[in-house]
Amino acid sequence: MKITGYCAIAVVLATACNSGPEHDREALMDPQTCAECHPQHFRQWQGSMHAYAAEDPVFRAMNARGQRETNGELGDFCVRCHAPLATALGLTEDGLNLDEVPRHLQGVTCYFCHNVSEIAGTHNNPLVLAMDTTMRGGISDPVPTTAHGAAYSSLLDGGKLESGAMCGTCHDIVTPAGVHLERTFAEWQASFYSDPDPDDPSEPYFYAQTCNACHLPGSTGPIADAPDVRADRRLHDHKMVGVDRAITDFPNAELGAQLRAEQDEAIATARITALCASLCVSGDAGNYQAHVWLHNEGAGHAWPSGAAADRRAWLELNAYTMDSVVYQTGVVGPGEPVAELDDPDLWLIRDRTFDENGDEAHMFWDVRDYESSLLPVPDDVGGDATTWQYRSYGFVADIVDRVEMSVHLRAIGFDVLQDLVDSGDLDPALLDAFVTDSVPGAELRWEPDIAEPSLMYGSCVVTAPGCQAPGLFDE
Ligand code: HEC
Ligand code: HEC
Ligand code: HEC
Ligand code: HEC
Ligand code: HEC
Repeated sequence: MKITGYCAIAVVLATACNSGPEHDREALMDPQTCAECHPQHFRQWQGSMHAYAAEDPVFRAMNARGQRETNGELGDFCVRCHAPLATALGLTEDGLNLDEVPRHLQGVTCYFCHNVSEIAGTHNNPLVLAMDTTMRGGISDPVPTTAHGAAYSSLLDGGKLESGAMCGTCHDIVTPAGVHLERTFAEWQASFYSDPDPDDPSEPYFYAQTCNACHLPGSTGPIADAPDVRADRRLHDHKMVGVDRAITDFPNAELGAQLRAEQDEAIATARITALCASLCVSGDAGNYQAHVWLHNEGAGHAWPSGAAADRRAWLELNAYTMDSVVYQTGVVGPGEPVAELDDPDLWLIRDRTFDENGDEAHMFWDVRDYESSLLPVPDDVGGDATTWQYRSYGFVADIVDRVEMSVHLRAIGFDVLQDLVDSGDLDPALLDAFVTDSVPGAELRWEPDIAEPSLMYGSCVVTAPGCQAPGLFDE
């Protein structure tokens, strides 16, 4: 590790780094301290799920229920990731007293990420903090500041594959019962995204894409409002979006809506290239078939990933003669739990979780097994063709002149939320705050005039050039 600034001196003198900076450790643990010089990072973080992690009412509800149903055996299992700094400081042991913990120590904070010095495991947040006043980052020649020591760390440098472990070991959950419930890190590690480029490791193309490369998109500009800083730094966006959003006004009524709008925009941008789809229609003499292929095109792990037991993604498809529907699947009414839909053809993309009796279970601590239907990530670049997922839908109609499909995504299924409402842990008024998105890379409309004839599947449409499923057309 290359160490610069105060710490270079401090290390030479073999003394602690915290003798120099004007802010003491306690002040550096407050994100508000950083806002003074890093206002953009602060604002982006403030709207992120990292800032919201311990405030999230669904988290609070689930943790409270878990503590009750396990007689406290859950312990710090949940808070060690959702309020890692407060847990490390011993301010909470079970997350039930979060209202008494100062808010600036809750959530995944600036200090927590920027003070990591070691990774001692592969899941359940094994990150070790230095507990000093040095902020680690991806810059090897930081301009000295009196605010804090600054040091380069490959664990935060998106150009280095080991940075995947800094994010990944918190984004990978093995429950106390030993179930590998959230696998984002394991999925990324098994994919080609975590492999060095075999042709030229110094100029990776396709290969070697870290979490940072996709989730902290860079722009150029000064990274601090401070004297003598350079204008040609890489500035990394800290919104770190995925699927979830704040469902209450956070951090307050004035800012909440603005931050959510910024978050929504970032989610929409990140999602544009997430999926690819192809849709073909074949048949005659009244018997038709719609053929659908979906492909995880842009995620460096499964789609969806992580909290996939709570996510609900599904295909909606409608076939028409003139304006009447002749076939449909995946049509869900407002507030209706898609998982409970009476629809034998439904293509539901998620993890299904089961308890010790093999019954469906929603809560971490009840889960003993799972079944996964996520869109997989290829393990090597050439393996792309094998990860397309296919379904076909047969129906009878005199003539079909239009077929429309889309993939919908909800952060948390209504069945899971209702379960928390029924146990008295979640306020039912919050249910309305959850939205259903439609994924642009999977929105398609087939009509005979716009579809292209294919080798085996009638005629086809695809969502973007390069989004044709293998074997559709003569290559
Ligand atoms: C008084 C101003 C000031 C405050 C307050 C401040 N910083 Fe900095 N920070 C700087 C300056 C200046 C740099 C160096 C900028 C450069 O080299 O372009 C920097 C650099 C950094 C780096 C890059 C380190 C590296 O080598 O990669 C990180 C990370 C960082 N700050 C995080 C924080 C965090 C987190 C806080 C709050 C706990 C904080 N800063 C508070 C001024 C400040
Ligand atoms: C979830 C972890 C995480 C949190 C929380 C976080 N950061 Fe960062 N931050 C990073 C990573 C990773 C990088 C380096 C990205 C790279 O170089 O690839 C970074 C880079 C930086 C840098 C260097 C400039 C740049 O954009 O690369 C500054 C300054 C910084 N962060 C400040 C902050 C402040 C201030 C907060 C809180 C308001 C914060 N960070 C919260 C992970 C985090
Ligand atoms: C201390 C553990 C921890 C670390 C380290 C961490 N995260 Fe997270 N991250 C979380 C938690 C907890 C949430 C979810 C909070 C919630 O929804 O209540 C989250 C949420 C996210 C989300 C949003 C997910 C969604 O569906 O909305 C993304 C994206 C993300 N993290 C990426 C990263 C990246 C990239 C890094 C590394 C720079 C990182 N995380 C480091 C714990 C962590
Ligand atoms: C090649 C780009 C890429 C890489 C590499 C990548 N991601 Fe993602 N990630 C995405 C995309 C795209 C999405 C999906 C956005 C959507 O459709 O909502 C996503 C979604 C997520 C989500 C939300 C998942 C969900 O469905 O709940 C989390 C959390 C996340 N990523 C964390 C990580 C972590 C941690 C790493 C590194 C171990 C990582 N990502 C690596 C592109 C990437
Ligand atoms: C190893 C770290 C870790 C542990 C342990 C952990 N979480 Fe999380 N949690 C995360 C991450 C990371 C995300 C974001 C995942 C994603 O978006 O895919 C998350 C997301 C969530 C969410 C919001 C997203 C959703 O749809 O579910 C809730 C609620 C939640 N966790 C509750 C809990 C509860 C309750 C526990 C304890 C039983 C717990 N978590 C334990 C890291 C953790």
